[in-house]
Amino acid sequence: MKKITIAIDGFSSCGKSTMAKDLARSVGYIYVDTGAMYRAVTLYAMRHNMFNTDGTVKVDDLEKAMADIHISFELNGKTGRNDTFLNGEDVEDDIRSMAVAGHVSPIAAVPFVRKAMVVQQQAMGTKKGIVMDGRDIGTTVFPEAELKIFVTASPMVRAERRYAELKGKGLKVNFNDILKNVEERDYIDTHREVSPLRKADDAIELDNSNMTIEEQREWLLEKFRLAT
Ligand code: C5P
Repeated sequence: MKKITIAIDGFSSCGKSTMAKDLARSVGYIYVDTGAMYRAVTLYAMRHNMFNTDGTVKVDDLEKAMADIHISFELNGKTGRNDTFLNGEDVEDDIRSMAVAGHVSPIAAVPFVRKAMVVQQQAMGTKKGIVMDGRDIGTTVFPEAELKIFVTASPMVRAERRYAELKGKGLKVNFNDILKNVEERDYIDTHREVSPLRKADDAIELDNSNMTIEEQREWLLEKFRLAT
């Protein structure tokens, strides 16, 4: 069977990565979470004091540091997860924090950050057989992808899912903070100048507000079968 490239884009916390990961596992493709890459850059910037007090990025400092930021994905032998590494350190848990979520969208709006991430993402997909999720995969990273999905769900549903996920991890979280973060990221992601979040013209839209994970899995597998 021919291998294809699958781009899954959409808003924050709408279950893209669950769908993408599931599909990759079912069909034996590589899965890449591009949000994790922007989160890792954000963690680096936070640790190196690269935010002004108003939350804007110290762009000159970050630009100088870009060559020192190395992101990779490696299998964690203990958990079986594919973890995100920043300069050799497993940062998978740190990048999922609310603090990182609160700083990531301004970082992801910086043009040279996007350029660097897109180059790495394209290099990972040269052999196809890849499922990549993010905000600009179908529009910028792989505009030629054979299958493009654009996922949406209401902000309330997304915040509820994120709340349950973080609570499930034993974290102390406030629902209104999460809803606010989801809405803020939607706004910044859709309004930035470079590669704003938008549905590619040839993407298939899925509103999964009222779907179970199983229903989403079946829906996506069907689209995959039709595309291969
Ligand atoms: O997917 P996730 O919520 O982990 O992404 C974190 C943030 O990274 C998003 O809110 C967005 O600002 C940014 N992002 C992006 N382009 C991508 C993936 C993520 O701008 N391809």
